[in-house]
Amino acid sequence: MDLDFSIITPYIPMILTGAWFTVKASLCSVIIGSFFGLIVGALRVLPFAPARALAATYIYVIRGTPLLIQLFLIYFGLPSLGINLPAFTAGVIGLSINSSGYVGEIVRGGIEAVPKGQWEASRILGLSYLQSMCKIILPQAIRNMLPAIGNEFVTLIKESSLLSTLAITELTMAGQQVRSVTYASFETFIAVGVVYLCLTSFTSLALQLIESRWQTN
Ligand code: ARG
Repeated sequence: MDLDFSIITPYIPMILTGAWFTVKASLCSVIIGSFFGLIVGALRVLPFAPARALAATYIYVIRGTPLLIQLFLIYFGLPSLGINLPAFTAGVIGLSINSSGYVGEIVRGGIEAVPKGQWEASRILGLSYLQSMCKIILPQAIRNMLPAIGNEFVTLIKESSLLSTLAITELTMAGQQVRSVTYASFETFIAVGVVYLCLTSFTSLALQLIESRWQTN
């Protein structure tokens, strides 16, 4: 068979517009998801059992159910409670909630990997729990977390393709549309795949850079 990419060249702007939506959705979700993930992770290690149990349950439910179902619940389910969200907003909320569960677990792991002696030393020096956490433990924990956080961001970009099921014209949906007018399925999805690869490579590189900076400090 012959691959003929010239069929899809007029549709490259369409694919790039889709890629822009993917970038926007992923970026918003990474920021919101990490923020809430940090809170969930912090609750998960708090010396207060009900908070730990609450965070553990949240992580258990989020990681134990498919992202697709979470998105459907928010976009198709919430309207029955009178909450009608625009597709993009629903998508970003779904991705953020999903990511916060995974980030929460990464944060917990990162904090627990800091040697116990660090806690004891900072408490003996007279620092409060919050001061020890913010000034001594977290800076070291973040170093432990960075590689896993990088993976999470890359995963999020790829998982954002599920937003196409909410009729959001992100990269995957743009690909579907190009395919439906050109019938050049192979070429279209090769192009879409290459764009995803560019996005994930850029993200990995950026995170490796941040990681190496953090290590030398
Ligand atoms: N496809 C999986 C799911 O449906 C992955 C969830 C997203 N993963 C993540 N690390 N944010 O549940």
